[in-house]
Amino acid sequence: MASQIPREFIDQLLQKIDIIDIVASCVSLKKFGANYKACCPFHDEKTPSFVVSPTKQIYHCFGCGVGGNVISFVMEHDRISFLEAVKHLAQRAHVALPTDVGRAMPKQSSERLYDLMQEASRFYENQLKISDAERVKAYLIQRGLSGAIAKQFGLGYAPAAWENLLQYLKKKQFSVEEMFNAGLLSKKESGKYFDKFRDRIMFPIHDRQGRVIAFGGRVLDNTEPKYLNSPETPIFHKSNQLYGLYHCVKTQRHHDYFIVTEGYMDVLALVQHGVTQVVGTLGTATTEQHLQLLFRYTDKIIFCFDGDKAGRKAAWRALTVSLPKLSANKSLYFILLPEGEDPDSFIHQHGQQGFHSLAQQAMSMPDFFIQFLVAGLNLNLADHRAKFLHHANQLLQTLSDIELQRVLAQEIAERARVPVGEIIKMLKTPKKQAEVMSRLSQIAMPSHLRKIIAILLQYPHHAASVSEIVKELSSYDFLKELVNIIVCQKMLTSSAIVEYFRETSYEKALVELAVQPLLLSEEFLVQELHAMLKKMLSDEKNQAIEILMTKAQKSGLNFDEKRQLHEWLKQKPKQGNVN
Ligand code: CTP
Ligand code: MN
Repeated sequence: MASQIPREFIDQLLQKIDIIDIVASCVSLKKFGANYKACCPFHDEKTPSFVVSPTKQIYHCFGCGVGGNVISFVMEHDRISFLEAVKHLAQRAHVALPTDVGRAMPKQSSERLYDLMQEASRFYENQLKISDAERVKAYLIQRGLSGAIAKQFGLGYAPAAWENLLQYLKKKQFSVEEMFNAGLLSKKESGKYFDKFRDRIMFPIHDRQGRVIAFGGRVLDNTEPKYLNSPETPIFHKSNQLYGLYHCVKTQRHHDYFIVTEGYMDVLALVQHGVTQVVGTLGTATTEQHLQLLFRYTDKIIFCFDGDKAGRKAAWRALTVSLPKLSANKSLYFILLPEGEDPDSFIHQHGQQGFHSLAQQAMSMPDFFIQFLVAGLNLNLADHRAKFLHHANQLLQTLSDIELQRVLAQEIAERARVPVGEIIKMLKTPKKQAEVMSRLSQIAMPSHLRKIIAILLQYPHHAASVSEIVKELSSYDFLKELVNIIVCQKMLTSSAIVEYFRETSYEKALVELAVQPLLLSEEFLVQELHAMLKKMLSDEKNQAIEILMTKAQKSGLNFDEKRQLHEWLKQKPKQGNVN
């Protein structure tokens, strides 16, 4: 997507804009040494760990790990696309977008998509108001929903007809293709289009800015399918949306906790009964993105799924995807409803008080973890204990928080009747370390390479002085690419370099390295940079020499190999003692 805008334009834009101005208009920055600090706008915290560097033009939160350049900040903060962010920043910097970009911008089409969805939502809402919708209103009343809640969540009704929405949107100058791409129409084999949602209660799904991005539609009786949902579209990605989130966070960012339910009706029923911090996963399994999103607004997530086998399974899945994201101050709880109940039915029967007392008894993550794993096992039997230990240990590996790992290890040890040290020992495998490392920055790199990259990112003008030696290296492809783009494209700020690697697996690691404190003076760092690279080169050569020497002993060398070896040994007289 980024390729639709010429890179030179982006580079110029990054030079014109000061990240400090942009960030300062959203959060209150305090000067802190050479940098600025603030409480992170992307997660809840009381002591500031969000740092913005004016020299590197980069931000990074040491608490939640977000980071990037000014484009990333605007994208993240305003929840907008790359192109939208570029356009926004261009406007602020009073620079005109290249004309062909303006035309090619899918942004315009996504803007129309938002307008179209808004119009569709208005249409459905109006249909609910008109008189022959009595049957629909009766249904909502029977489900215990008030008019106020219907209004608050923008509920609507899709009439039992084939072309009502289609004709309405046509009058609003939208094309049939646009409606189809928005997921509002279906297509017959004959090629004829018709309204996808018919005779259904419509639940608009909002993004965090309150824009309608999708719909769910429920039948009024027992016919199947019970719900129809919008497909994935350019503005709707089910796995990172939560029903009701907009209504929770529009007036208040921080919440003591969030209740996560499975369904539309669960969210509405809880909100109507005064349990307002509630979202729904829209019938999909809980994803890592859901977790990440919610932990921006709260430190405590309470899952409340249906009291049946499927609900328990969904809760367990939520637990397993959450493990890597948890820490001592990011916790999970589980409300286990009585068999056959869902949050909607429960609150109608027991009211807010009933629900709150249930929430008080919510199970902590470690308790649910153990309870689920021991279900069906008899821990008096050695082979059952082994089975339990095996499964529990596998999951324990996925935790990244050491403290929490220790708590769980203790619980597991007790049940499995082994010393806790045994369990901790099992964790300390190189694989685990590699995993933790890769989770930290998505790519694992040896520490000397990280150091080299950090120096290059923070002092890009020294890249040219090492470009020859880097070219000589035979591995280290990423380092070669990095030096090459800095030198050839004259990228002299961390921000431009990070921009170049946007949406690659290196992006996150680069941001971290760009803000990593290097402690020594520039002069020393540059000396170190040269020394490290020389060492890498000589290590590589020694390795190659060793390989050739071994081969020489085993099977002999061909002419080229002999010449190569000879040359290397000549270059490195000190290495002559290898023989
Ligand atoms: N769902 C879906 N398609 C279905 C069934 C369910 O998309 N055929 C999703 C919906 O988002 C629904 C959620 O899964 O809200 C939970 O399903 P369920 O518990 O069956 O629905 P409820 O929301 O409880 O709806 P109701 O109480 O009206 O049965
Ligand atoms: Mn239900």
